Amino acid sequence: MDLHNKVAVVTGGGSGLGRAAAQALVDGGATVVIIDMNAEACAKAVAELGAEKANFIQLDVSSGPDVEAAFNKIKADLGRVDICVNCAGIGIAVKTIDREGQPHDLDLYRKVIEVNLIGTFNISRCAAAAMALNEPDEKAEKGVIINTASIAAFDGQMGQAAYSATKGGIVGMTLPMARDLASQGIRVNTIAPGVMATPLMMGMPQPVQDGIVSNIPFPKRLGEPSEFGLLVAHMVENSYLNGETIRLDGAVRMQPR
Ligand SMILES: NC(=O)c1ccc[n+]([C@@H]2O[C@H](COP(=O)([O-])OP(=O)(O)OC[C@H]3O[C@@H](n4cnc5c(N)ncnc54)[C@H](O)[C@@H]3O)[C@@H](O)[C@H]2O)c1
Repeated sequence: MDLHNKVAVVTGGGSGLGRAAAQALVDGGATVVIIDMNAEACAKAVAELGAEKANFIQLDVSSGPDVEAAFNKIKADLGRVDICVNCAGIGIAVKTIDREGQPHDLDLYRKVIEVNLIGTFNISRCAAAAMALNEPDEKAEKGVIINTASIAAFDGQMGQAAYSATKGGIVGMTLPMARDLASQGIRVNTIAPGVMATPLMMGMPQPVQDGIVSNIPFPKRLGEPSEFGLLVAHMVENSYLNGETIRLDGAVRMQPR
């Protein structure tokens, strides 16, 4: 699918990888609606992207009614949804039992599942329903959905039981969702990033960053958010890419800690 003149929804677009995805989509000629909880970050992103090419809706991706209302508003305002990129997410580092032998807080576990896994599905289901209303393009496509997992879906470290479960869930639903939506001409793919140079990572002490980088075979550095944006654009443009999860990680395989 060509990016030009398309309408894209990007969750988590106020920061990090979502912000980079929004940039790549706008650079390719799409109009972007950012969905994010952080209104201040979104306002800054929209100002940088250009108010004629971007706007935002502040909401929690795990709220069913709020997400349904948001997609109704986008359809009313912009007429269609062609592309959806799920980047909103949170991470925690909590072991299954702590040093005193106390079990993992169950509400905290539920919260990560709610935002990362249910939030991704919530947005995708509404995006798919909106895309299904589109006329197919010359390649018989009506839309493209891109999810963000993590290499923690495959090699989760200590303390990542909750986070890895959400990302494994996103990888697991990619193929069945692509199969569900095949008859509608809607593709679904997932990116599993390694360690990317987002504000969170860049805020870590240099020795911690150096330790992470020492395990990355090549290139020996953190991934750039713009490299995530490049893959998002390619996943939209390459019509034969469907039902797949691609690691974007410099060949790193994470150790237990
Ligand atoms: N940065 C990395 O190294 C890395 C690696 C692998 C996977 N990921 C995944 O990529 C995604 C983006 O990560 P990032 O590093 O850009 O994070 P980030 O914290 O910079 O950005 C995440 C954005 O999501 C928003 N958000 C959080 N919870 C939300 C909710 N409930 N509803 C709406 N918006 C919400 C935040 O406000 C923020 O703007 C996440 O899913 C993360 O798990 C990141």
